[in-house]
Amino acid sequence: MKILSIETSCDDTAITLMNASLNSKKQPVFQILANASNSQIKIHAEYGGVFPALAKREHIKNLPILLEEILQVVRQGLTIKEANLTKKKFSKSHAFLNSQSLALNPAGIDLIAVTYGPGLEPSLWCGIVFAKELAEKLGVPLIPINHMEGHILSTFGKSEGKFTIPKIEFPVLSLLVSGGHTELVLSKKLLQYEIVGETLDDAVGEAYDKVARMMGLPYPGGPQISALAEFARKNADWTQTSADQKQNLFKFSLRQSALSQRESAREFNKIKFPRPMLYSKNFNFSFSGLKTAVLYLIRDLQKENPNILQNNEIKAKIALEFENAVVETLIYKTLKVKEKYKIKTIIVAGGVSCNKHLQREMTKAISPDQGRIKLLFPENKLTGDNAIMIGMAGYLRYIKNKSKTSKISSIKAKGNLRLS
Ligand code: KG4
Ligand code: ZN
Repeated sequence: MKILSIETSCDDTAITLMNASLNSKKQPVFQILANASNSQIKIHAEYGGVFPALAKREHIKNLPILLEEILQVVRQGLTIKEANLTKKKFSKSHAFLNSQSLALNPAGIDLIAVTYGPGLEPSLWCGIVFAKELAEKLGVPLIPINHMEGHILSTFGKSEGKFTIPKIEFPVLSLLVSGGHTELVLSKKLLQYEIVGETLDDAVGEAYDKVARMMGLPYPGGPQISALAEFARKNADWTQTSADQKQNLFKFSLRQSALSQRESAREFNKIKFPRPMLYSKNFNFSFSGLKTAVLYLIRDLQKENPNILQNNEIKAKIALEFENAVVETLIYKTLKVKEKYKIKTIIVAGGVSCNKHLQREMTKAISPDQGRIKLLFPENKLTGDNAIMIGMAGYLRYIKNKSKTSKISSIKAKGNLRLS
C-alpha cells in the first residue's frame, strides 16, 4: 500500500510517500518513493530557539509546497534522485488542494499518517489540519502517530531506497534523546511502551542548546557544542593546532583568544561539572543542575576575566566537560535499566543520537555484552525529525489495528502525549 506521512511537531516540515507491504516472512518492507522536507532552523536561530508562531506560519506555507513536490515526482514517474527536490519553490498556495489533479489521487495514496504529539501544539495542528483535509478529499484512512514512536522506529529506516524491519529481539530498551525529551522506554513487544525513566526538568538537547546560548553560540547548539568537544578531545594540546584548523572550527567566532597560554591552563583546571542523579535509585535524569553549574562557572570565570568567552579554547573545554558529564549520565542509567530488565536490544534515537561521543561511548559500554545485546542507532539523516519514521509507524499501526482506524474528525493535537 502507498502511505503519505506528515510531520510538523516542531520546526521541521516533512512529507514522505512510501510503499509498504509484508514479505513472505511477514516482515514489513518499505520503499521510499518521494521525500520532501524543510527545516526552519535559520528562521528560529535569530530567536535562540523555536518561536511557535513563526513555526506555525512556516508549516502552513510549506506543507502544500512539499506535497506539490511529492506529486510532481509521482506525475513525472521520477526516481528520488531524478526529481532533485532541492530548494525549488512552487508558487501555488494551499488552494491547490482543491485542484482536480489531487481529486484523482495521482499518487494512489491508500493511507495517511500524521504526527499528533508530543510537540508544539500550534505546529502539530498544522500537520493535522492538512492531513485531515487531504484524507477526506482522497477518502482514505488517517492514522495519528506518536512522534516518539516514530523516533524509535527510525532506527530501522533508511532515508532512501528499500528496507525491511528485521526480527527484533525483545525486551527492547530505547534511550530517546532530543530537544524535548530524554526518556528510557521499555518495550516487551512491538508498539508497546513503558517509560521507565525520564528527565525531571531539561531534555538533553535542550541543555545542549542552553549551554551553547550561554557561550554565545547559535541555535541549535547541540552540533556546535559537540563539534567543540570533539575538537578538544582530539587536540589535547591546543598550541599544536594550526591557525587554519582553529579558523575552520571556530568560524562562528571572529575574535581571537584573549588569554595567554598560562592563563588558559589555569582556567582549564577549574572547568569540571557534576554527574547529575548518578546515584539516585531510579532511572530518571535531571540536567538543569548541570546547566546551572555551567552558568555559574562561566560567571565565575567572567568575574576574573570579562572577555573569557572570547577564548575559544576555554569554550571548547567547557563543551568537552559538559558533554562528558551528559554522556556519562545517559550511559550509566541505560546500563542500569539494561541489567534490571535483561534487555536484548538497545536503541538510541532522537536528534541527539547523532552525537559522536554518545555513539562511541555507548558502543564501548555495551561491548562486554557483544553477541547478547544488539545496539542500534538510526542512520544519521534519520536522527532528527522526519516523515519517514512517521510513515513506518503509520503502517505498523495500520496492520495492527486495521479494523478500528480513528475517526478523522476526532484526531486532535496532544502536546504532552506520552508513550504507552
Ligand atoms: O529530535 P530533534 O530533531 O527535535 C526534537 O524533537 O526535539 O532534536 C533536536 C535536538 C536539538 O536540541 C539539537 O541541539 C540536538 O538535538 N542535537 C544534538 C546534536 N545534533 C542535534 N545534540 C548533541 N549533539 C549533536 N551532535
Ligand atoms: Zn523529535
